[in-house]
Amino acid sequence: KEPEGSGQALAGKKALVTAGPTYEPIDPVRFIGNHSSGKMGLAIAEELARRGAEVHLVLGPSAVKTSLPGIYIHKVQTAEQMYDTCMAEFPTTDIAVMSAAVADYTPVEKAPEKIKKTSGTLIIELTKTKDILKSLGQLKKNGQLLVGFALETANERQYALDKLTSKNADLIVLNSLNDEGAGFGYDTNKVTIFEKGGNEIVYDRKPKQQVAKDIVDRIVNKLYV
Ligand code: CTP
Ligand code: CA
Repeated sequence: KEPEGSGQALAGKKALVTAGPTYEPIDPVRFIGNHSSGKMGLAIAEELARRGAEVHLVLGPSAVKTSLPGIYIHKVQTAEQMYDTCMAEFPTTDIAVMSAAVADYTPVEKAPEKIKKTSGTLIIELTKTKDILKSLGQLKKNGQLLVGFALETANERQYALDKLTSKNADLIVLNSLNDEGAGFGYDTNKVTIFEKGGNEIVYDRKPKQQVAKDIVDRIVNKLYV
């Protein structure tokens, strides 16, 4: 048993972290994206590395940077590229944390040339992306720990619990909306962690680096207790 929070509790472990948004191309100059900054995922990657893990950060388009050793960054654009990278890395992964804001839908076709404006409306047909967290949950073997996130605007506790089960995750981190109602672009987060087995831990609002410590504390606890 490793003491919680000890310096190198995760030495010898490999971690896979997704972060940031994905960009789904419409034509050569346009995409469907979202406001995820990648900061929460980066903070988790850094905290895992500080505790000794070898970290593979699969990062969608984002300005975040790190100078910590032990973090390998796999840059991707689309949900499909993020899925492919995660599927390749997961078999050798001990800890997977899916904090990316993956697009749920992507254009059926990327137009080969810039779409010119015409009169009236433009309809773009979208198709569902693959659910990375759910796919990893189906592949998960004994000893692999899987963490997902949830951001909800209604029934947050029930939806978070549903995600814990439907995605076969060990932890779901529920991100509560801030007082202004928006979830993105802040340097703080307020989370509740739902653990397989029924444990629920409510945390105060705090800087994302501190939230990352809380999450990694629970990961270390689940791995060694
Ligand atoms: N996720 C994923 N791949 C997707 C969509 C979501 O890995 N294609 C992951 C996210 O990284 C997050 C978790 O699934 O860890 C929950 O994402 P969320 O958007 O809250 O839930 P969805 O399952 O996409 O359902 P909905 O958006 O309808 O609530
Ligand atoms: Ca979603």
